[in-house]
Amino acid sequence: MEDTIDMILLHKPTECSYQVSNSHRLTWIVTGIASGVYGLWALFVLPGFRTVPWKLKVPFLPSSKVQTENIMKLLRGRKGCLVDLGSGDGRLVLAAASVGFQSTGYELNPILLSCARAQAWLKGLSSTQASFVKEDFWKANLSSYNNVTVFLAPNVMETLEDKLSTELPYDARVIVCRFPFPHWLPTCSEGCGMDQVWAYDMQSLRKQILSKNHHIWLLSLCKK
Ligand SMILES: C[S@@+](CC[C@H](N)C(=O)[O-])C[C@H]1O[C@@H](n2cnc3c(N)ncnc32)[C@H](O)[C@@H]1O
Repeated sequence: MEDTIDMILLHKPTECSYQVSNSHRLTWIVTGIASGVYGLWALFVLPGFRTVPWKLKVPFLPSSKVQTENIMKLLRGRKGCLVDLGSGDGRLVLAAASVGFQSTGYELNPILLSCARAQAWLKGLSSTQASFVKEDFWKANLSSYNNVTVFLAPNVMETLEDKLSTELPYDARVIVCRFPFPHWLPTCSEGCGMDQVWAYDMQSLRKQILSKNHHIWLLSLCKK
């Protein structure tokens, strides 16, 4: 009999455990609704985002600290102008500006832009050191940047390969986070898992493209 009472007591949820699980559920529901509303607002309502084609839309997700450190490692020894495509709250632009790059961030979300500009101001960075442009980077000409950082989404990487390979100068380096380019071979990489970043140098990419085209040309000659 005592055993049975013990079993019942052990398995019966207390009022306190009900409260804890209910408050957890409530937190999840509120977070879910808030992220959903924010996502829809950011993707459909913001004036800038409405003009971005559906297949190229990318929501905000900030770079982790380790990811940012990995990017900075792959930028070591380089200088000049840097652009972050979709700069979010500006963390990559600010990190690059603090080591001497003339950094620019393209961002369409006005709240993230204000946050980034406020942080640049608080850090005492001038507009030459760190600037933020409210513009769609797909429509921008990127030919003046020799350093490019990218943390976007897998669905846009192929289209971005085409844009960057036609616009970037010969000495440019592109550093991408989490989602590598589908066709390009990286020069080097840093970190692992979610924080892995890859560096692509235009010089070696153009050689790859040339040798691929040469190979195709030779094959077509053989077939004739
Ligand atoms: C994954 S977040 C990365 C944010 C930041 N680069 C970082 O690493 O923390 C992508 C950002 O790109 C912005 N974005 C997406 N498409 C854009 C576009 N076509 N032009 C400008 N910004 C864009 C989004 O608003 C979002 O803030």
